[in-house]
Amino acid sequence: MHAVGIVAAAGSGLRLGADLPKALVPLAGRPLVAWSVDALLAGGVAEVVVAVPAEQRAAFETALPGVRLVDGGATRTASVRAALSAAHDLGDAVLVHDAARPLTPPEVVARVLAALDGGARAVVPVLPVVDTTVAVDADGVITGALPREQLRRVQTPQGFDRATLVEAYGRLPAGAELTDDAAVVHSIGVPVRTVAGDERAAKITVAHDLALAEKQVRG
Ligand code: CTP
Ligand code: MG
Repeated sequence: MHAVGIVAAAGSGLRLGADLPKALVPLAGRPLVAWSVDALLAGGVAEVVVAVPAEQRAAFETALPGVRLVDGGATRTASVRAALSAAHDLGDAVLVHDAARPLTPPEVVARVLAALDGGARAVVPVLPVVDTTVAVDADGVITGALPREQLRRVQTPQGFDRATLVEAYGRLPAGAELTDDAAVVHSIGVPVRTVAGDERAAKITVAHDLALAEKQVRG
């Protein structure tokens, strides 16, 4: 199986609040996006396409020499859509990954690839929910507890049979915005399988997450 990786790196990182796009923020001296590309390649992906902010393309070319870049869009969905159409000639499987998950262990990538090899059309890495999880009303008053054993936290990379992902994006209305790619294929009725994720594949969203990642790298 020949798998292509799509890295969504075109966000600005408002919640991190750095003066650079989040994907270019350094972790132990290397941009987050470089770590994320390496994680995919180390796990068995053959090549990658990275969606970047159009106005920052030169900086990404410097950070990722020799890597295929495409201009992303205003939403993550638009960025993945752009990369998917640029990668139309590549691979029979596609793994879509967040640049914001730099320390994803190669084993997670390998588990996703193995599930695709085994015939899954869509597969996502997940983790259990360990805290009691509740729903609240508009005033913040608890309306009930959610059945935790049925809930999972979804990570990336998310893997797809390429034709399935292309079809799902093709049927998604222009301008639709979904938070991940599993939701895009789920919307056309494709079953999405799960494999074990890893806490180290956590997404860097706020400054605290970056501080934790620095600790993880430095040991
Ligand atoms: N992303 C993207 N294109 C966008 C928005 C997000 O490719 N228009 C990517 C981000 O670069 C990131 C991933 O999607 O790797 C997950 O998004 P998120 O963590 O929300 O990153 P940002 O949108 O950059 O951060 P924020 O929401 O805090 O601004
Ligand atoms: Mg965002």
